[in-house]
Amino acid sequence: MTAATEALPKTAVVAVIGAGAMGAGIAQVAALAGHPVRLLDLKPGAAAQAIAGIRATLARLADRGRLTVDAAAAAAERLAVAESTAGLADASLVVEAIVERLDAKLGLFAELEGIVAEDAILATNTSSIPVTAIAASLRCPGRVVGMHFFNPAPLMALVEVVSGLATDPAVAATVHETAHAWGKKPVHTRSTPGFIVNRVARPYYAEGLRLLDEQAADAATLDAVMRESGGFRMGPFELMDLIGHDVNFAVTRSVFDAFFGDPRFTPSLIQQELVAAGRLGRKSGRGFYDHAPGSVPPAASTEPARALPTGTTVWTESTLGALMAARLERSCVAFARDERPGPGGAIARIGDTFIHVTDGRTATQRGADEGRAATVLVDLLLDPSTAARVALAPADTCGEEAFGDAVALFQAAGFAVSRLDDVPGLAVMRTVAMLANEAADAVNQGVCDARAADLAMRAGVNYPRGPLEWADAIGLPAVLTVLDHLQRTYGEDRYRASPLLRRLVAGGRSFHR
Ligand code: NAI
Repeated sequence: MTAATEALPKTAVVAVIGAGAMGAGIAQVAALAGHPVRLLDLKPGAAAQAIAGIRATLARLADRGRLTVDAAAAAAERLAVAESTAGLADASLVVEAIVERLDAKLGLFAELEGIVAEDAILATNTSSIPVTAIAASLRCPGRVVGMHFFNPAPLMALVEVVSGLATDPAVAATVHETAHAWGKKPVHTRSTPGFIVNRVARPYYAEGLRLLDEQAADAATLDAVMRESGGFRMGPFELMDLIGHDVNFAVTRSVFDAFFGDPRFTPSLIQQELVAAGRLGRKSGRGFYDHAPGSVPPAASTEPARALPTGTTVWTESTLGALMAARLERSCVAFARDERPGPGGAIARIGDTFIHVTDGRTATQRGADEGRAATVLVDLLLDPSTAARVALAPADTCGEEAFGDAVALFQAAGFAVSRLDDVPGLAVMRTVAMLANEAADAVNQGVCDARAADLAMRAGVNYPRGPLEWADAIGLPAVLTVLDHLQRTYGEDRYRASPLLRRLVAGGRSFHR
């Protein structure tokens, strides 16, 4: 992008085609930003109905003091119905949000070429159709660009500005600046399957489904761990129930197919079965959870309270060890503090029980490697000083009493404890490592830069931290170790580390510093 690039002036007419959920939201955003907006829909009356809906929303926002009455009235005034594409001749920017079918989009764009001015920008809100393919048959493919909003468009800040093979960089830059002027957080990306968000987010669902498949814990427990340890707003299972399994499964399949069956994106048999059963989530009344009126959501399984025996040592050289010590001190728990690194990287011991942060080996493997039967692993925490829950996994060789001592230590520090089966990488660590790995590959392949990858995941799907900044915070060598151990354990290409991650580790660098 050149420094000289500017947003379209507020006087520029914006045409929005398709007055469904997305088109109506985009029209509202453009009108509020000050543009005259023309809304067109194939279905008679649909555009007028959408405009009536937007005006009602604007009036509500004014009632609640979120907008001035004048601003709401002025935005409402700027919205007009277009009866046909001929009514869009004066548009400087067209945003297409029609049905997700290539043939329909090709027909529409070909028609628009004969109507709008030579310098008008043709943008598509497609989630899954390559921008390159939409532009390919046009006379001027350079002016076609993706302007990918997230649902609901007025509330979600992210806009992916998607460049196809022929997209003129100046066009992408203008759309980027225009989205910015509309109060959005735009990011540049190339037209590759899933763009940024729908690609980088895949492991959030895939690792959750895999953990369930391997009986690490039930859905409610894994959701609670991802929320209360990982800081995600929703766990993967409640989120998939909200999105709808038909939609989520279709996106996964389309990304998997588009990457020619890369095992990273392998769809889940569990989700396929839910779709086959018609258990689509909230919209059908049942998915992983029962959403029938009056149904009680299942509780996460939480270990019963146990007393902490004497003889606890906490090694405070590691970040988690130091923060655990601080929490234990706040709870007035007696323990010995040791400033040296713990043996084998352990963060704490109670009697013979040694606690380590997961490094992608199972607890059983780690115990065998270090010659300690009573090995317990702890999952990654977004913020160990405030997290409400922690997930622990005992080695198969760890007795119940010894595991109970580890549980008691975390309970004494104020955590609710969820027990996971001894799966490699536990839940949060494995998911975050895979999210970061996917983001790293996107950066490595020039799909976007590291800043855009992080911003996209924070603003597009509300992640508590961008995956690459999170990986930086964990330490890239530790993230790479987790991935290498996962790959060794499973023997699957799915867990192969991104070459960029490997290179940064070798050079002693990180994504952002
Ligand atoms: P929708 O089904 O709610 O609305 C589509 C509208 O387009 C309908 O009102 C339909 O009558 C109209 N339409 C269909 N063909 C048309 C044509 N040739 N000319 C004019 N109008 C036409 O769909 P939705 O959810 O608003 O999605 C629209 C586009 O936005 C799709 O490309 C979709 O992939 C994309 N998208 C959807 C998101 C979502 O969460 N729903 C998120 C981001 C992108």
